[in-house]
Amino acid sequence: MDFPFSDALKRLPEQFFAGLVHKVSLLEKEGHDIIKLGQGNPDLPTPQHIVDKLKEAADNPAYHKYSPFRGFDFLKQVICDFYDREYGVKLDPTTEVAIMFGSKTGLVEISQCLLNPGDLALLPDPGYPDYMSGIELAQARTSLMPLTAENEFLPNYGAIPASDLEEAKLMFLNYPNNPTAATADQKFFDKTVELAKKHKICVLHDFAYGALGFDGEKPQSFLQSEGSKEVGVEMYTLSKTYNMAGWRIAFAVGNASVIESINLIQDHVYVSLFGGMQEAAAYALTTDQTCVEELVHTYESRRDAFIGHLRAIGWDVPEPKGTFFVWLPVPHGYTSEEFADLLLEKAHVAVAPGNGFGEYGEGYVRAGLLDTEERLLEAAKRIEKLGIFSKA
Ligand SMILES: Cc1ncc(COP(=O)(O)O)c(C=O)c1O
Repeated sequence: MDFPFSDALKRLPEQFFAGLVHKVSLLEKEGHDIIKLGQGNPDLPTPQHIVDKLKEAADNPAYHKYSPFRGFDFLKQVICDFYDREYGVKLDPTTEVAIMFGSKTGLVEISQCLLNPGDLALLPDPGYPDYMSGIELAQARTSLMPLTAENEFLPNYGAIPASDLEEAKLMFLNYPNNPTAATADQKFFDKTVELAKKHKICVLHDFAYGALGFDGEKPQSFLQSEGSKEVGVEMYTLSKTYNMAGWRIAFAVGNASVIESINLIQDHVYVSLFGGMQEAAAYALTTDQTCVEELVHTYESRRDAFIGHLRAIGWDVPEPKGTFFVWLPVPHGYTSEEFADLLLEKAHVAVAPGNGFGEYGEGYVRAGLLDTEERLLEAAKRIEKLGIFSKA
């Protein structure tokens, strides 16, 4: 028997990138060597000292029971210490921290927490697709904020229709940005706080790439702006900072009412994460951070190698300031999808077509710096062989 899905499930947007994964796997089955730069999955392992801490913690019988519903106090305290150390932001561990099963979970939950059917959310376009999943589940509506090169991939608040600003209840932001690799400065976040206060909009800042800033520039936390806690929360994941994407651990910090709403929904859906995980996460956040510096250095040299080579073959591409992505303008005469298909089929290089992230992603493809420098150079060489670009 086939049981019909609920209307809520039917509203979920199509997983755009499932098609790309399928195409790649077909070519691999035919025996082709595909350089896979299409997804955002960190390629390097979790630093060994964090893995060892998990192994040790797994032996502790105290963690074999249910964890406290809202997570262990020691982890919440460590998260506050981390924000104080990294950003000079003071937080209350009892009211301003929620522990989550990865930030993807939190990014979908937030719409259930704050939006009623018909409510309006402001959403970056292009943007991380899962924001939309939560909005659809909540039966809410969106007003899209285009991110364009002319505005350095920041939303132009002056262009948002006045009626949308009045109606909007929630705004999603993400810097360093997936997919455009743009970063935001304090001035931008100060302006965001001002706008949010004026129009009573809750800001959700997705800080997934918070650790990944290049050229010595540390990415700005939204919570570093004065008054930010009055109007929003920031979500931080260990997935990218410590290559812990498979572990599923993240947290939200900031506005106490929003944190309470996240904790409340999680009281009903989960019992908190395995205690050993929480201990290992606390260790990752507090111990020597050399592994993070090394990771940033690795992505930065991959960026330099890849971008340098693409420019050398005649592809005029901008240099990203953060994340592990590069946002590449497609050459004249191709759509994003046509160009991504060409790279996959003829050069065996997989990239993500920009239109999968929204209408304003058209004209770009996203490549992840998620393979070795040698393989990234090999990708650039394969692209050169297509003969599309001409050297200056
Ligand atoms: C912008 C952005 N937010 C959130 C996530 C999800 O991270 P997590 O592993 O914490 O679910 C990703 C993962 O790729 C991302 O790119």
